[in-house]
Amino acid sequence: MEHKYIIDFQHVDVTQHNGSVVLQDISLQLEPGEWMYLIGKVGSGKTSLIHTIHGRLPVRKGTARVAGFNLLTAKARHIEQLRRRMGVVFQDFQLLYDRTVYANLAFVLRATGWRTKRKIDERIMNVLEKVELKRKAGSMPHQLSGGEQQRVAIARALLNSPDLIIADEPTGNLDTETSDDILKILREINRNEGPAVLMATHNLTILKNYPARTMRCERGALTGLDIDEEIDMDEMLEA
Ligand SMILES: Nc1ncnc2c1ncn2[C@@H]1O[C@H](COP(=O)(O)OP(=O)(O)O)[C@@H](O)[C@H]1O
Ligand SMILES: [Mg+2]
Repeated sequence: MEHKYIIDFQHVDVTQHNGSVVLQDISLQLEPGEWMYLIGKVGSGKTSLIHTIHGRLPVRKGTARVAGFNLLTAKARHIEQLRRRMGVVFQDFQLLYDRTVYANLAFVLRATGWRTKRKIDERIMNVLEKVELKRKAGSMPHQLSGGEQQRVAIARALLNSPDLIIADEPTGNLDTETSDDILKILREINRNEGPAVLMATHNLTILKNYPARTMRCERGALTGLDIDEEIDMDEMLEA
């Protein structure tokens, strides 16, 4: 069945495994191909919300659809299918450090059912080209800079041509210039292929340079940010 939104959350509680409610009665709708930011202080619930969208934290009430999958009724195999429609990028890259860039990507493709060596090679070169890292296919992750490692993580997120990329503070470990490179690459991917992007960030320079619809986690609620609202830098960065 077709759905209008890539993420459609209505009256959802974001709840930790221990039962504590992190965000109460939230609504969040993301259109296909849309680019949206998620902001909020440390501990305000950004990562918990991302984990909920990713099917790692349970949803018990409301409406919660991601890429057409209903999180309230999805079985484990549906969650597995859903995760193929979704690429995830983390602050700390989460590469496998005991193998090459190529092997990191091949591992994901094999785990998601790719069998033909030629097709695997083609796909890996295709995603590495998008992040301008073709020449590093044979490198070990520790031989790469932080920015390059994050680009490998982005390439990995693209392997199965996702409808949605969720990025949890993807520039949190990077300097300003490298962060900007990462943003440019993600913007390019978002424009050319149209996966929607939901990005949690603390980086106000990014919000300023690449403005887009922004939602804020605050005191257990998720609210839309007025486009003209000045973001108080101190308040944003306060732990
Ligand atoms: N694994 C966990 N178990 C229980 N509580 C957690 C866990 N992870 C985070 N929390 C709590 O959930 C709240 C939101 O945290 P988090 O989603 O990580 O916020 P953010 O990503 O905005 O920093 C915090 O109160 C945090 O202590
Ligand atoms: Mg977080």
